[in-house]
Parts: sequence; C-alpha cells; structure tokens
Amino acid sequence: MSICLRNIVLSYPDGDGHRRVLDDVDFEVRRGEFVAVTGPSGSGKSSLLAVAGLLITPDSGRVVIDGSDMTGLDRDERTTVRREKLGFVFQQSNLLPSLTAVEQLQMMSHLAGDSVRESRARATDLLCSLGLEGHLDRRPHQLSGGQRQRVAIARGLMNDPSVLLVDEPTSA
Ligand SMILES: Nc1ncnc2c1ncn2[C@@H]1O[C@H](COP(=O)(O)OP(=O)(O)OP(=O)(O)O)[C@@H](O)[C@H]1O
Ligand SMILES: [Mg+2]
Repeated sequence: MSICLRNIVLSYPDGDGHRRVLDDVDFEVRRGEFVAVTGPSGSGKSSLLAVAGLLITPDSGRVVIDGSDMTGLDRDERTTVRREKLGFVFQQSNLLPSLTAVEQLQMMSHLAGDSVRESRARATDLLCSLGLEGHLDRRPHQLSGGQRQRVAIARGLMNDPSVLLVDEPTSA
C-alpha cells in the first residue's frame, strides 16, 4: 500500500482571483510508515490530507494509490476507493448528532455492506480500546471534545483501512 502525490496544485477562490494553497507538492507514504505533516495554522495541512483522501480534487497533479492513478475517477469510483482503502479522521470530528458512539462505527460497516449485528462487537472493542467503555451509548452532545475525537478515530479504524488519514489527532 502506498499513497503518492505528484505535482499537486490546489487553489481556493478568493475574491476575484484564486489563492494557491498547495503549490507543486510531492508527497509519498509507503506501507507501514507513520508520517506527520506539521506547519503553521493555515499552511495547508488539512487541504493536503483532503487531496490525499480523495475528498477534494486538485487543480492539477496526480494522486496514485497502490500504483493506481486516481485522476479521472468519477465520484462513485472515488467513493469506493475511500470506503475500501482509506480511513479519515476529520479535524472537526464530524460525528452524526443523532447516533450513539457505537452506532457511529456500525454505520461504517453498514456502508461497506457488512452485517450490523457482527459489527457491534468490533465497534465495542475499538471504543473500549480507546477508553470509551462507559460511553458506548452516548450521543456526541453527551461527550467531551476529546471523547468525540476518540470516537472519530475509532470510526476511522472500523473498516480496517489500509491507510488512516488523521487531521490533528490530539487537538482535543
Ligand atoms: N474551502 C475553502 N475556501 C477558501 N479558502 C480555504 C478553504 N479551506 C481552506 N482555505 C484556506 O486555505 C488555507 C489552508 O487551509 P487548511 O485548512 O488546509 O490549513 P491547515 O494547515 O490545516 O490549518 P490549521 O492548522 O488551522 O488546521 C487557509 O489559508 C484557509 O483560509
Ligand atoms: Mg487543519
């Protein structure tokens, strides 16, 4: 498994023009590597992760996952790669307000087409391994910021992704 970014350029609309946030970025992560991207606030870390995680399409450049070029994949194909290979933990935990901690994780199994009943055991194990044993049936508003962040990390691991992309994992 590897993720390789080549010559990535990303800009956001800014008034009349565009603001270039990623300027010809090359980046590679290979199997088993643990890589941290650091930089000041606003320098483009979340944007870089969103490109690597196929959440946004850059203006130019290529994202190659496991040797396959992702450029030109349509929306559905990108969704499939994300579901099967990538786990993503967002800077804001992005939990669904109406679901309990266990259900947030079970939802990932459901989207992957796995049995919801079997997924409860795995969801419980993951949450317990992150110290959330007393909070399995709580909804996001009943959890602290750090607890929400750990539920989001557990959710990112639920489908056993090849790559876990984590934005600011210890911020809370
Ligand atoms: N959707 C958007 N539209 C316009 N500008 C954006 C958008 N998202 C981010 N930006 C700008 O792009 C730059 C990079 O943002 P990004 O979120 O990637 O930074 P970051 O390094 O993750 O920052 P932080 O450490 O604060 O999370 C910032 O200047 C931000 O204002
Ligand atoms: Mg960020």
